[in-house]
Amino acid sequence: MTNMADMSKDVLVALERDLTRDFELQKSNRLALDLTRGKPAPEQLALSDGMADVLAGDFFAADGTDTRNYGGLRGLPEARALGAELLETPVENVICHGNSSLTLMYIVTATALNKGLWGDKRRWNLTSPVKVLTPVPGFDRHFTLCQSFGIEMVNVPMTDSGPDMREANRLAAEDDSIKGIWCVPKYANPTGIIYSDECVNELARLPATAAADDFVVFWDNAYAVHDFQFPRAPLAPMATLATDAGTADQIVMFASTSKITYAGGGLGFLAASTKVLDVLEKQMRVFSICPDKVNQLRHARFLKGRLEDHMAQHAALVKPKFELVEQTLRDGLEELDIARWTSPAGGYFVSLDTRPGLAKSIEQLAGETGLALTPAGTPFPSGRDPEDRNLRIAPTFAHTEDLSVAMSVMVLCIKLATVRQQLGPSS
Ligand SMILES: Cc1ncc(COP(=O)(O)O)c(C=O)c1O
Repeated sequence: MTNMADMSKDVLVALERDLTRDFELQKSNRLALDLTRGKPAPEQLALSDGMADVLAGDFFAADGTDTRNYGGLRGLPEARALGAELLETPVENVICHGNSSLTLMYIVTATALNKGLWGDKRRWNLTSPVKVLTPVPGFDRHFTLCQSFGIEMVNVPMTDSGPDMREANRLAAEDDSIKGIWCVPKYANPTGIIYSDECVNELARLPATAAADDFVVFWDNAYAVHDFQFPRAPLAPMATLATDAGTADQIVMFASTSKITYAGGGLGFLAASTKVLDVLEKQMRVFSICPDKVNQLRHARFLKGRLEDHMAQHAALVKPKFELVEQTLRDGLEELDIARWTSPAGGYFVSLDTRPGLAKSIEQLAGETGLALTPAGTPFPSGRDPEDRNLRIAPTFAHTEDLSVAMSVMVLCIKLATVRQQLGPSS
């Protein structure tokens, strides 16, 4: 095999014929495979089944709180300590509430828009339009959330070390309607990269140089401890850097145990300055008397002192799946030089770029064989990938055997779409 760009027309025609034959064969196999779901596999969920017994009838927290009763809107101290460990921030800066960090992001966005986060005159909806910076490719739920509030999204390219900070700094400094930026700093969804120290430093300073005086960094550290190797890969300490930069009131951090314990029964965390927490707590009091402290207590007891051990057990299940993805892509595509993909050392996703103009047709070809890929364009606001080249691969949920077949089919579809594109419309 050689680089596809160097192949003669005759070679391409023969290759297209062979690939089409393989593709038709796959279609007749009537597969039902799914690479769309960034969910833990059942074996990963089972790692936390010990939580069911950990309380053993003792519902009292370390400070004597009866977790079965009302009270404690910010969460149990031991649960907040778990959030502090994930977000590397002091425990007094953490709220533990609900089972989803996305819900907390929604609450913070709604509060920033309608009430302001600081108990002063600043709030986003005093002017229109309201815009935020969206590093792309990124997490589709951030985009849907913005869209639901009518917030405009201004794309910033992702690099191997984080958002393109030259562009982010320029845009934020020029336009006071830009009120924030979305960040997934460790094992970013979907590229899997970790923001460099320099990038985190610049992001910590960004609220100070932005034209808007109510600029907020949304620091969604969903994969803070989801490494494949230990000791964990470090991330520059945003909380400390923000304090040093005088921007601590304008950084809000998020995490959860969705991919540590149970994706539907975990804990959501947010961390911010005490000034911002006071405002948010006032808002949360409107719709909640207290969080589920029983779940908080069993999480705290179950994970206390063994978070890294627990994540190493996840890694033992997840890492081989990522290695399989990497190996299949390398074997099938490297020499042809028709795609680029990321090789994350943690997290939940691999991001793959095809030649421009092919992602949608690859998704469609895969669909014809019975392989569901995440819809092309998902990691872009409004599902619009301007180059139609990005595909997100979510390897965790599938059984290894299914993943292996799915990746081979995906490689086949990438090759077929690319050779057809190179041959042109008359092929
Ligand atoms: C970057 C990122 N943030 C947040 C979430 C959702 O987290 P939660 O379950 O805590 O709402 C996900 C889930 O895929 C994610 O990838």
